[in-house]
Amino acid sequence: MTSATSVAVLVGSLRAGSFNRQLAQALAAIAPPSLKLEIVEIGDLPFYNQDLETDSPPPAWTTFRQRLASAGAVLFLTPEYNRSVPAVLKNAVDVGSRPYGRGALNNKVAAVISVSPGAIGGFGANHHLRQSLAALGVAVLPAPEAYIGGADKLFADDGSLAVPATREFLQKFLAAFEQWIARHGR
Ligand code: FNR
Repeated sequence: MTSATSVAVLVGSLRAGSFNRQLAQALAAIAPPSLKLEIVEIGDLPFYNQDLETDSPPPAWTTFRQRLASAGAVLFLTPEYNRSVPAVLKNAVDVGSRPYGRGALNNKVAAVISVSPGAIGGFGANHHLRQSLAALGVAVLPAPEAYIGGADKLFADDGSLAVPATREFLQKFLAAFEQWIARHGR
């Protein structure tokens, strides 16, 4: 029996009641057995500063990079801030992309989900994130695309997905991600 793929889940919100984090937790509960989804925290990463890219970079960078390197895939959950990616998530991408040419994020296999209470489901953030990942050679699941709107009405009190159509869509999304990893995982 092959072991499950470890999927590093990066959540682009630090808010305690974050819908993106709630969705990350709900996804971990409905993921197929072949995918083990685990949130990797990004809130304590110092802002990227090239001057700190020495033989002893900030320990939080090193821990994060090692965590990314050991993951078989990466799943991004991003809010939309002013039609783009929140700074905390962009910072994580920048930290993961370096040292130049050897970034732990480079050439990974990944998927992106944007989550917003708004009607367009964070489309702008989703595509800004894809733009950055393309530059790193990350193989991002092209479809199905996941722009999750109405996030303030998605969850039951116990954190489970309360909207059956959304739960079914996300199960299909995870099944497609599973196949994408099998095809492109490195
Ligand atoms: C927002 N929000 C927002 N929503 C959206 O759909 N498009 C946008 O461009 C923005 N812009 C934006 C900027 C800033 C600075 C904040 C704080 C918020 C609202 C955002 O979707 C909402 O706060 C979500 O709840 C954030 O995601 P989490 O924290 O619930 O995961």
